[in-house]
Amino acid sequence: MTSTTSGASHVPRVPRVPRVPRDRAIELDLADPLRAWRDEFVIPDPEVVYLDGNSLGRTPRRTITRLQEVLEREWADDLIRSWSHWLDLPQRVGDRLAPLIGAGAGEVVVHDSTTVNLYQLVHGAAALRPDRPVLAVDPHDFPSDRYVVDGIARATDRTVRHGFDRLDDVAVVVRSVVDYRTAEVVDVAAETARAHAAGAMVVWDLSHAAGVLAIDLGAGGAQLAVGCTYKFLNGGPGSPAFSYVARDLQGMIGQPIWGWFSQRDQFAMGPVYDPRDDIGRMLIGTPSILALTGAECGISLSAEAGIHAIAAKASALTGYAIELCDALGLSVCTPREPARRGGHVSVVHPRARELTAALIERGVIPDFREPDVVRLGMSPLTTRFVDVHDGIATLADLVADLAG
Ligand SMILES: Cc1ncc(COP(=O)(O)O)c(C=O)c1O
Repeated sequence: MTSTTSGASHVPRVPRVPRVPRDRAIELDLADPLRAWRDEFVIPDPEVVYLDGNSLGRTPRRTITRLQEVLEREWADDLIRSWSHWLDLPQRVGDRLAPLIGAGAGEVVVHDSTTVNLYQLVHGAAALRPDRPVLAVDPHDFPSDRYVVDGIARATDRTVRHGFDRLDDVAVVVRSVVDYRTAEVVDVAAETARAHAAGAMVVWDLSHAAGVLAIDLGAGGAQLAVGCTYKFLNGGPGSPAFSYVARDLQGMIGQPIWGWFSQRDQFAMGPVYDPRDDIGRMLIGTPSILALTGAECGISLSAEAGIHAIAAKASALTGYAIELCDALGLSVCTPREPARRGGHVSVVHPRARELTAALIERGVIPDFREPDVVRLGMSPLTTRFVDVHDGIATLADLVADLAG
């Protein structure tokens, strides 16, 4: 999320020194097989160069239409009767998302937030390794991931290890597939196999991977994962997250929040908690149908466009961005090897915060990440090559201005 993206009353963005021709970007856009998908989104000001779809995806047109329908027909007209088809919406949206991350039907459920879902899964996984005293996390991972691990370690009398070199005493490894700062990608299959061989459980965080990379959780042997839907999946601000639990683990894993939505016979209102043994076991309480509807619409767009086509365009956009940065003398900390990077490119500069603010003033919206990163997100369904060109050319101009 960025707190500085509103009201970008921008000065014309035409690069001051057009050192890299724009023609190539125009050609790449013309040849882009996904270019028509941009029309599926509301883009009130086409002059704004939006390079933050990795934080908050753009607004799908169908979300507006569908929300209107849900409000007027399903809520206003049908009232509480709509719960007959709302009740299993978290599972239905999960099934829609499943193929995008290499999961099977009945292995994904969309609910609550990434932080909550991470807490549930790490807690549940740790309980399956009661004799192991360590939880492992990357010290540079996203704050929620580190804090959740710290909190569970404290509550269960374990210690936290920063890094993954030694795993023989580790109960749970918590790891992001794509580094939120550098966009570096972890090899899910190799690292899952290594952790499992050492006896550890793994919870993957797919927040910066879902909807932009062709992740295959099933083929990679992954058992547990979570991730956001408001980034590359365009679900809308605060749209619910997802939990993935491989089928063979579903009857085994417990969860720390015993609510009525995971109860086997939910409406029996029984005296004792008796959890379901399917993916519904991860649910807690009443889902926000409006937010879930947004997630459903965003996810459906990615599912229709196809994750392999999306991933191919992400690779082309980020490759082009790195090429431009090199040509314009900008320093990049994102891996150059296509298979090792996600859907954003990070430019490192000691005055990155200032540069981000100046870019926003000029109608180019990236985000800043501590301590020195300007993060340029490329969302394959909406970002054009000309956006990448214009954004990076503007950034290069600003860097040149700072250098005097
Ligand atoms: C990698 C990662 N994990 C967890 C989160 C937390 O998500 P939420 O705030 O929806 O709980 C984020 C949010 O941006 C994230 O990027």
